[in-house]
Amino acid sequence: MVVAEVPELTSAAGYFFKAGAEGKRTCPTVLLLMASAMEMTDDLENRPRARQMRVAEITEMIHISSLIHDDVLDDADTRRGMDSLNFTVGKKLAVLAGDFLLSRAFSAAASLDNTEVVSLLATAVNNLVTGELMQMSITPAQRCSMDYYLQKTYYKTAALISNSCKAIAVLAGQTTEVQALAYQYGRHLGIAYQLIDDILDFTGTTASLGKASLSDIHQGIVTAPMLFAMEEFPELHEIVEQGFDDPANVEMALKYLSKSQGIEKTRLLAAEHAKLAADAIDGLPESEDQVILNSRQALKDLTQKFMRRTK
Ligand code: FPP
Ligand code: MG
Ligand code: MG
Repeated sequence: MVVAEVPELTSAAGYFFKAGAEGKRTCPTVLLLMASAMEMTDDLENRPRARQMRVAEITEMIHISSLIHDDVLDDADTRRGMDSLNFTVGKKLAVLAGDFLLSRAFSAAASLDNTEVVSLLATAVNNLVTGELMQMSITPAQRCSMDYYLQKTYYKTAALISNSCKAIAVLAGQTTEVQALAYQYGRHLGIAYQLIDDILDFTGTTASLGKASLSDIHQGIVTAPMLFAMEEFPELHEIVEQGFDDPANVEMALKYLSKSQGIEKTRLLAAEHAKLAADAIDGLPESEDQVILNSRQALKDLTQKFMRRTK
């Protein structure tokens, strides 16, 4: 799906799909498990399973195109423990490779012949862009708001997986109730994932993460641990509002964070979302099918695995 007319573009677009560069493949894993966690009520003539697999592929393509563009926006040199695409081929080709991947993803989506699914995927991309912009053009007051942070987090990290989970249920021919549960699973899993990511940005190392640590604060991005620390230490407000261009501010903020319960509280919030994700799976209609039950258990196990992840 990522072969282009121009070899340069094919090679740039395929960069993160090569063996060893494919990352954790979390999105497709979740989506394929979601597919086998529910009854298929659509006409089998429509090959619903093949179409669900296509959604998993499309989602990974959208995800990778967003990472490629993100690394351009962030001027990042590394991704997945390797040189970022912009570092390797330059910004211009990286932007085009991201655009190309996105167009290929939507060609594949169009071939599913289901406008609702295309619309869900378009919403996801729209939300990704909105989330990225909310982060970029933030006011000092918004920077100190947990509500703003959580909305941005939903858009940036959870909207793709939640809308794609719903698309899986749509293609299964499932009821709107099941579609909503699939969506809720993706939503809460995505938010839990990002909260852990925010913690790892403070506690991880470049070697363990495959990307620079403390990158959020150095980019002036305030995440959940710091927002919780601000509740404990109101003095931190002023520092956060001033921003982190001054390294002395970064140092002070980190000192307050280490004195606070910020990391622990973030972990608890992530655990709440992980639990809500598992509850969505428990809300699915009863089934006796062993494959369905195993898949549901795996989706629930994944919520716990996310809580323990270190990269
Ligand atoms: C990672 O953020 C970035 C995202 C999850 C989404 C980025 C979205 C866009 C660039 C909008 C355009 C979207 C498409 C589909 C082309 P991060 O910088 O916080 O995380 P990182 O540590 O992984 O870099
Ligand atoms: Mg980034
Ligand atoms: Mg970014």
